[in-house]
Amino acid sequence: MSRITDEVLGHAQDNDGIEEYDNPLPTWWLGLFAVTIVWGVAYGVNYHFVAGDSQLSRYRAEMAAAAERWPVSEPGGLVYDDETLAEGEKIFETTCVSCHMAKGRGGPIGPSLVDAIWIHGAEPEQIRTTITEGVPEKGMPTWGNILGPAKVAQVAAYVVKLHEASGAGVDGASVDGASVDGASVDGAAPDGAAPDGAAGVDGADAAVDGGGEPLEPLAAGQQVFEQYCVPCHLADLTGATGPNLVDDEWLHGGELEQIVKTVTNGVPGKAMIAWGPILGDEKIKLVSEYVHHKANP
Ligand code: HEC
Ligand code: HEC
Repeated sequence: MSRITDEVLGHAQDNDGIEEYDNPLPTWWLGLFAVTIVWGVAYGVNYHFVAGDSQLSRYRAEMAAAAERWPVSEPGGLVYDDETLAEGEKIFETTCVSCHMAKGRGGPIGPSLVDAIWIHGAEPEQIRTTITEGVPEKGMPTWGNILGPAKVAQVAAYVVKLHEASGAGVDGASVDGASVDGASVDGAAPDGAAPDGAAGVDGADAAVDGGGEPLEPLAAGQQVFEQYCVPCHLADLTGATGPNLVDDEWLHGGELEQIVKTVTNGVPGKAMIAWGPILGDEKIKLVSEYVHHKANP
């Protein structure tokens, strides 16, 4: 039975003269319409109740991905991801080993950072503060204005992890307890040598004494330089954290007596600490002569 498709329905007088045929929509169109309805219902059910792929869950997933990419600070306001720790290690190895030695095991100037004793507090926030503010009167430079807060945070995170990895723990009680000899707590050498006065620094003494056979003054000066100054000024004196000492440009004067003065008193606010109390006059003189000699070959 086929429809009559070319006959008007004849209600023009009810509809302002508009005529109409009785032509249904094409089947393919109606089919599409039905499909969209089924699709809409299925999609809605799936979106809200099945797939867990709603706006909210997507938002949560993106926040989780962001948290992974830009980690939120852990306690102490420090970040401990691989990148930060690698940067921190780099800073430590170029800037801190001169006094704290490799892996922070401590040396004649800077105390061990991997033992159970913390002079200025073991909390990450305290460690960051110690590094930022330094302990200028004890020879720990004020790193905050030298490195800036971002690098301080990186190297502080590295120190925290270094200490954790050492398994030393934190021996709060022994800081003022009898088990620790006073010298170590005062930031002296781990072997108990006094930090002030040349006599306490065994390494440098050996350098000067040369095991009985007295060294030429320049060789003795070089040994002092290699023991204390190389991490910042490099073995060829061309400078890293500290400036180049052999380029004819002097910030504080290149005359021997001015070098002696700079080395003795240091440069306040800079990584160049006052070496006078650490090395004593004799070694200051030797190392300054060595620097002066290298600068004026
Ligand atoms: C020029 C020598 C020197 C350099 C370089 C140096 N330090 Fe120190 N540091 C010291 C001395 C000395 C002390 C001990 C201060 C005291 O006795 O109060 C110290 C103490 C510390 C402490 C506190 C240890 C404690 O027991 O509480 C931390 C942490 C520290 N240094 C980290 C660093 C970091 C990180 C760097 C590199 C950015 C650095 N230091 C570079 C000399 C140095
Ligand atoms: C922790 C890093 C560090 C160590 C270790 C260090 N210095 Fe320096 N030194 C510096 C910095 C930084 C300066 C530049 C200070 C400034 O900006 O005025 C400097 C400056 C100097 C200057 C003055 C340079 C000039 O242009 O006037 C001399 C000389 C010097 N150091 C010698 C030494 C000697 C000798 C030692 C070893 C006993 C030593 N330094 C150890 C960081 C260091």
